[in-house]
Amino acid sequence: MHDSLGELQKEAVAALEKAASLAALKEVEKNFLGKGGKVTGLLKGLKDLPDEEKKSFGKAVNDLKVALEGLYQSRSQILEREEIDRTLENDWIDLTAPGTQHETGHIHPLSETQEEVERIFQQMGFTIVDGPEVESEFYNFEGLNIPSYHPARDMQDTFFIDKAPHPTEGKMVLRTHTSPAGQVRALMQHGAPLRVICPGRCFRNEATDASHEHTFNQVEGLLIDEGISLAHLKGVMLEFLKRLFKRDLKVRFRPGYFPFVEPGLELDMSCPFCDQKGCRVCKHSGWIEFMGCGMTHPHVLKTAGIDSEKYQGWAFGFGLTRLVMMRYAIDDIRHLQNGDLRFNEQF
Ligand code: PHE
Repeated sequence: MHDSLGELQKEAVAALEKAASLAALKEVEKNFLGKGGKVTGLLKGLKDLPDEEKKSFGKAVNDLKVALEGLYQSRSQILEREEIDRTLENDWIDLTAPGTQHETGHIHPLSETQEEVERIFQQMGFTIVDGPEVESEFYNFEGLNIPSYHPARDMQDTFFIDKAPHPTEGKMVLRTHTSPAGQVRALMQHGAPLRVICPGRCFRNEATDASHEHTFNQVEGLLIDEGISLAHLKGVMLEFLKRLFKRDLKVRFRPGYFPFVEPGLELDMSCPFCDQKGCRVCKHSGWIEFMGCGMTHPHVLKTAGIDSEKYQGWAFGFGLTRLVMMRYAIDDIRHLQNGDLRFNEQF
């Protein structure tokens, strides 16, 4: 009997040492020491032995059991260690590797230039005002000295809104310029003296091409006070352009026509891109048409309830979209609003 115990021991030790993984080792342990295992079976059979053998055989089986358990423990520690080493070798993390860059959004060139324009005018004491993009004919036209019979209405390529007209202010339109907000509404709301700019979107019913869009941005300016002349407009614009283009530029006035100013003027600036040497942007003339402007017509002041004998001033309006196109040499206006990321990501 003791001999077969020796065989069993050899068999078990060999199996424990051969097991190459924790799972295999577990299996060996079950075969020998588990509930239905061979060693456990011997212990269970003890009760059938004669008393004189029970004691010594019992002790021998128990010793074997303890020895095998010890061996199992040490083997399983070794295998566990090996498994951890393997994992460390294969699944390591390089803490010095550079991180992955997340894509972030950024400011659209139109917004960026608008913010810059706002900042410069704020530094010169102008307040920023706003107004609705859907306007009534009163604010878009009448309040600007453009009555319904006036031929200038046809110049504006107006989008009319397909909904009930305003009870007292005429049909509803998409504003064709920022003048209704930057002049009429600002004057009616705040009175005189006043110094405001009004950046915003405008809309015109035009065929689109590289330089025409149905939607574009303007910046309106208005200054009303006592004793104001065109000299103040010239001074403000020289300073504005100097701060925007970071160089001294020249301006010149040419006669222009807008019903809400008298006299009406166009302002040109000397080309900041070639310093008047001649380039594509100024079409080799050295000058760039920059904006419409003029002395505010007394009718506009009167309509807004302002004493036109005491107060006078000027207004201007320039195309922010055009300014951005010049600055960044964008050759097609349609790029600015079509939402193509390949365009936007260049800025
Ligand atoms: N509102 C005019 C336009 O859209 C521009 C302008 C503004 C002209 C103010 C004179 C004074 O063309």
